[in-house]
Amino acid sequence: MYKQFYKDGFCQVNFGGEKLDQVLTKILKNDLKDGYNLESKYLGSYDLRPDVLSYDKIFIESLRQYNIKKIIEETTLKNYSLFHIQIRVVENTNSYMDWHRDTYYDQSGELHGKSPHGVKLIYYPELNKEKQDRLLYLRGSNRILFPNNLYDRGLFKILESKKVKSNKDKAILFDTNGLHSVCPETKNNKSIRLIYSFLSKKQILDDHNDNKLHMKTIQMFEEI
Ligand SMILES: [Fe+2]
Repeated sequence: MYKQFYKDGFCQVNFGGEKLDQVLTKILKNDLKDGYNLESKYLGSYDLRPDVLSYDKIFIESLRQYNIKKIIEETTLKNYSLFHIQIRVVENTNSYMDWHRDTYYDQSGELHGKSPHGVKLIYYPELNKEKQDRLLYLRGSNRILFPNNLYDRGLFKILESKKVKSNKDKAILFDTNGLHSVCPETKNNKSIRLIYSFLSKKQILDDHNDNKLHMKTIQMFEEI
């Protein structure tokens, strides 16, 4: 499993369930619990605030149910902690986040994002619709990081892109160093995704030890 993950930069893992889909369906319809709201982050996308962790225990429970901690260890051969959980509603017919790496060096050599990078697990539920295109991933780009992201353009001629669709039984686990692109939403539609970000515990403690939510998130993940 880890050889393929290292080669491609992603894999699909079992995830989902009726109860989780019910909670996500309500959020998608903006039928939210008291004290929570959907706040615009990028153009045409809205994140659940103030936080996902306290909204419903299903989000941590699903990680336990599908043995995600062990799967991540066996897939990445690293010991990651949970950094944060996001729920995002998207209605933008342009990609809110076109081809990018979560961590990269720009044309002046400046670092952006967490270094070293982590992994993400994203669940794109189907919610009784046909499978929709959700994410593109440039297979193998996770193993290459230029000191100037301008050179990334050349990779599109060499590497193939993998399309990830919504799936009620699977989530995608991917190396955030790889080039990936969010597929735009179709006209007059909106969709929801559940995003788990993993990083090393040391990095989270070094950068966010004064942030109660991140500290609570680490603790909840350790307890599952
Ligand atoms: Fe990203």
